[in-house]
Amino acid sequence: MKNDIPRHVAIIMDGNGRWATRQGKKRTEGHYAGYKMLKKIALHILKKGVKVLSVFAFSTENFKRSEEEVGYLMNLFTEGFTKDTHYFLENNVRVVFSGRREPLKDKVYNAMMKLQEKTKNCDGGILNICLNYGGQSEMVDTCKKVAELYKEDKISLDEINTETLYKYLYNDLGPVDLMIRTSGECRISNFMLYNIAYAELYFTSTCFPDFDNDEFDKALLDYQNRNITKGGNSKK
Ligand code: FPP
Repeated sequence: MKNDIPRHVAIIMDGNGRWATRQGKKRTEGHYAGYKMLKKIALHILKKGVKVLSVFAFSTENFKRSEEEVGYLMNLFTEGFTKDTHYFLENNVRVVFSGRREPLKDKVYNAMMKLQEKTKNCDGGILNICLNYGGQSEMVDTCKKVAELYKEDKISLDEINTETLYKYLYNDLGPVDLMIRTSGECRISNFMLYNIAYAELYFTSTCFPDFDNDEFDKALLDYQNRNITKGGNSKK
């Protein structure tokens, strides 16, 4: 094997809707199946030795979807995070959230913050759920945060560099090593733009509700056999 287990994996969980439609089911059933699969593979991925798993659960643009679909997803988040607190605690997974507060309803935001607070001492790996998230918005929010700190004389220009900037993102999780997108689309879609600078990209036609442990292992094997240069010379 040429490479170790990646430290940080990111997944764009795409294709829930198509997975459901192909089976004559409602799109929302695809989201439910996606959530069930996420719970399963998150443990598998973290047990493999991955330290951080970031997933794209809801983009800032997803609010443009039908009221029914947005409402369903918001309920799934609220209920899922509340009911599954014990699941993450028992499995020692620390859950953190990345994204903007507005315009999430209080009940959704409160369920997110409760889960984040309750799992804060878990040290078996981090699940970073990106919800109401956009990569460009994250950069804008980071610029504002840094500008405020500079204005208050809490940071000097010399302290700002490509390494230290991670500290001012929504969460300080470091670079993504492997980025996976399911369902056959080959786009980044505004996901973790700063962190993915040198990420290896893996695209699969499998829709997310079918992206199981074996599918992840395939992606992992592919990653581990790549020539990763990060701008330097390739390993022979
Ligand atoms: C993309 O599929 C998926 C989403 C917009 C939502 C992702 C949500 C989940 C996997 C379930 C919930 C997750 C958590 C963390 C509770 P799509 O609807 O764009 O599929 P399509 O491209 O086939 O229409």
